[in-house]
Amino acid sequence: MDCLRIQGGRPLKGEVPISGAKNAALPAMAACLLTEAPLQLNNVPDLADIRAFLLLLETLGVTYQKGPDVRQLTLSAASLRQVLAPYNLVRKMRASILVLGPLLARHGRAKVSLPGGCAIGVRPIDLHLKGLETLGASISLEDGYICAEAPKGLVGGTITFPIVTVTGTENLLMAATLAQGTTTLINAALEPEIANLAQCLNAMGAHITGLGTPTLTIECVPALKSASHTILPDRIEAGTYALAAIATRGTLTLRAPQLASLLPSALSVFTQIGAEITVEERSLTIAAPSTFSSCDITTEPFPGYPTDLQAQAMAVLSLAEGASLIRETIWENRFLHVAELVRMGAHISVQGLTAVVRGVPALQGAPVMATDLRASSSLVIAGLAARGETTINRLYHLDRGYEAVEEKLTACGACVERVPAS
Ligand code: EPU
Repeated sequence: MDCLRIQGGRPLKGEVPISGAKNAALPAMAACLLTEAPLQLNNVPDLADIRAFLLLLETLGVTYQKGPDVRQLTLSAASLRQVLAPYNLVRKMRASILVLGPLLARHGRAKVSLPGGCAIGVRPIDLHLKGLETLGASISLEDGYICAEAPKGLVGGTITFPIVTVTGTENLLMAATLAQGTTTLINAALEPEIANLAQCLNAMGAHITGLGTPTLTIECVPALKSASHTILPDRIEAGTYALAAIATRGTLTLRAPQLASLLPSALSVFTQIGAEITVEERSLTIAAPSTFSSCDITTEPFPGYPTDLQAQAMAVLSLAEGASLIRETIWENRFLHVAELVRMGAHISVQGLTAVVRGVPALQGAPVMATDLRASSSLVIAGLAARGETTINRLYHLDRGYEAVEEKLTACGACVERVPAS
């Protein structure tokens, strides 16, 4: 198992190319299961989670080709071997549940392992299952597997989500494309990855309206066809580098289109901390202030402040003047990074779903342990800002969601190296 060794205290300066979004690429990859025609995806990031999802698709019988561009992936589900997504693959990545809706819609049945919980929370999927039942599926749970059947095909209906669910909306959106009649999704998630998936499905011949709104209407089409679709930039990767620029008192230009519209609440938080932001058509530049102002953050569904940038903001606010309150409203256990930041000298106390962060003048490097994907990027930010050496163990969490992280950081002046765990 690798770890990341960081010599902290160097301001990040330069440009960072922002990769395609993991959380948009995964549902788009699942969409290939809806048709026997090939689906070409562009701007797919090279990440452990993408490779794990490809392995699951391959197990189902999907074939794929990479290139000619390094970020291009063409998937073909012309003939499937099985409709069973096994436990050993699903347990490693909960987004595997995204195969359920498309398999059921096209093949009339699917057997997908229940994903189980993970470090950040219980992660139930009851709303995915209730939505599929509304579309006429019969669902039973057997030996840890979801067994879903709709032998005569799914039938459109109205699904009202009681709370916002990102992959729940994506699963139902994909299933509804082939469901007879009209389906309406009410209180659909507004995350930009949903509209990106709907664009992909429409390019494949689906009939979805209401993109970017909480009500999505899907008219049935008999079959989907071949298409080429581009994955949108990773707003969480961009926000993570922006916070790294602030933490190290540096200046970074993040290269990707649309970043300001993908990060509305995060940019307002960065400005409150004191950063200067310059938005251009295909880039965003963030310059750190000399001192950081404290700021209160509540994580919320889009367009609110993303839970996936909560841990990273905490690393920065641990260096702010005064106290900040951070409320986590999406996941019940997403403060696992706190104990590690405290080992680096941060003053943070947690009461329930609220963390009180009292700024300290400096963090000290230390050996720390990554507990989940975003916790690991928070520790990278803390390590880059800290005095001395930080070693982050369990680096595989970071590799799930950040492409070429050492290369990108080194190009901006950071001193980081991947070393085998001692
Ligand atoms: N929920 C239910 N029932 C359900 C589904 C969700 O109660 O059937 C609850 C969850 O327990 C949670 C809330 O609803 O409290 C929101 O969960 P959601 O379904 O939106 O989360 P998700 O779709 O499993 C995606 C991202 C996460 C991100 C969340 C919130 C993907 C593959 N994952 O998860 O990304 O934190 O939305 O924005 O898109 C990450 O990238 O690090 C990550 C964890």
